Amino acid sequence: MTSGTADPLERLRALQGADLPVHGGRTLAYVYDSGEPEVDRVAREAVAAYAASNALDPTAFPSLLQMENELVGFACALLDAPVTAVGTVTSGGTESILLAVQGARDSRPDVVRPRMVLPSTAHAAFHKAAHYFGVEAVLVPVGPDFRADPAAMAEAMDDDTVLVVASAPSYAHGVVDPVTDVAAAAAARGIRCHVDACIGGWVLPYAARLGRAVPPWTFAVEGVTSISVDTHKYAYAPKGTSLLLHRDAGLRRPQFFASAAWPGYTMLNATTQSTRSGGPVAGTWAVVEHIGDAGYLELAERALAAVDAIVERIEREPALRLVVPPDSTLVAMATDASCDPFTLTDELVDRGWYVQPQLSHGADGASIHLSVSAGTVAHVEEFATALTESLAAAQAAGPVAVDADVVAFIEALDPTTLDDDDFDGLLAASGLVGTAADGGLELPTRMAAVNAMLDVASPPMREALLVAFLDRLQRPVRRS
Ligand SMILES: Cc1ncc(COP(=O)(O)O)c(C=O)c1O
Repeated sequence: MTSGTADPLERLRALQGADLPVHGGRTLAYVYDSGEPEVDRVAREAVAAYAASNALDPTAFPSLLQMENELVGFACALLDAPVTAVGTVTSGGTESILLAVQGARDSRPDVVRPRMVLPSTAHAAFHKAAHYFGVEAVLVPVGPDFRADPAAMAEAMDDDTVLVVASAPSYAHGVVDPVTDVAAAAAARGIRCHVDACIGGWVLPYAARLGRAVPPWTFAVEGVTSISVDTHKYAYAPKGTSLLLHRDAGLRRPQFFASAAWPGYTMLNATTQSTRSGGPVAGTWAVVEHIGDAGYLELAERALAAVDAIVERIEREPALRLVVPPDSTLVAMATDASCDPFTLTDELVDRGWYVQPQLSHGADGASIHLSVSAGTVAHVEEFATALTESLAAAQAAGPVAVDADVVAFIEALDPTTLDDDDFDGLLAASGLVGTAADGGLELPTRMAAVNAMLDVASPPMREALLVAFLDRLQRPVRRS
């Protein structure tokens, strides 16, 4: 009965060759590598076994409910959750955050214009939640150490504030906010306080057990009402899971959705998805079972050892500096005037080290982000060599100059009034999208010029340009 490609898996492998490696500890954003091949084997088999199972209905697939409840139980121990705590498995950090914001909004039907108070470093997922749910994001500048300013946040809270947020740690700078003071200020006004521990929640408890200084941020802190922690990050689980925990079931209740307002089955969901693949749930459960508490302690020790080695290396280079000393496994480094950060990024990528450029933001210059995994520790010497070589190459290449006319042009444009033709011209001029010989799109391989151009654009212009870019990327491939 088959009439398609004889061996699609062969093509799949060929296609995958264009992607960043997910193993090898050298991809320092997007993926998290335990460095343990057995972890990947267990994950693969569990995902495959449950790929067609549907977590939509826990009575039909009770094994998935069991796995979810066991995962939440594991996280409860990690996050000092009280016996009243409950949790939900979601598809990722953004979904956990969306639900935390939606739940907070819907817990306050009396508030007509809901607001949430965020440190300016909070993850963009909160801005997405603001956009989706009509909650105003009130941004409070962080202090010079890039940590939230609790006094300023307290000042920003009012009767319409439905949620207050802190990060443990923040993505861009890798530091933990003063959760105790932020949560206390929220509790004093009876406002929910969410701790976004999406990226740090599975590492920080182990870092503390290893004797490192970790400021309090879990449910042990009074006033913390919910925490998000992503299993598909530092629990080294396959992509597609995060956990959202609430201090008690009452706090979670507005997150649930049921609808009997149609002739089919009564829809009953704890998350934004309805049909949910059992694959990521089973894969995550199997990985957490396999690694276990002692295993995570060891993986945290390795990841933190890799961070220490990388930090030491950065501190040895006069042209480099840490933006702020890291509290966890995320490193933000900046360059001095002798070295263009975007060129340095390209040079590291060329040497097999994927690092992520962070554009300048407000008064803060551009920087380079590294999410360091346990799998990186075996390769820190290679990283050190790549860094030295890349630095020399970037310094020799000199700064990336954005043409003054292009700067003037971009500055003069209003992104809200541009039409599709304008975007086509801008994307071509920026090098973001070229046209290949076959008429398809050609992605740039060296990104420095593109990043330099985006860096001079205003945030709304960056958003508009990148949305236009994505729109051009997502076009059907039709078979002739
Ligand atoms: C602190 C923090 N919050 C939220 C997210 C969003 O997670 P996801 O990409 O899984 O949606 C991230 C992702 O890196 C993060 O670091």
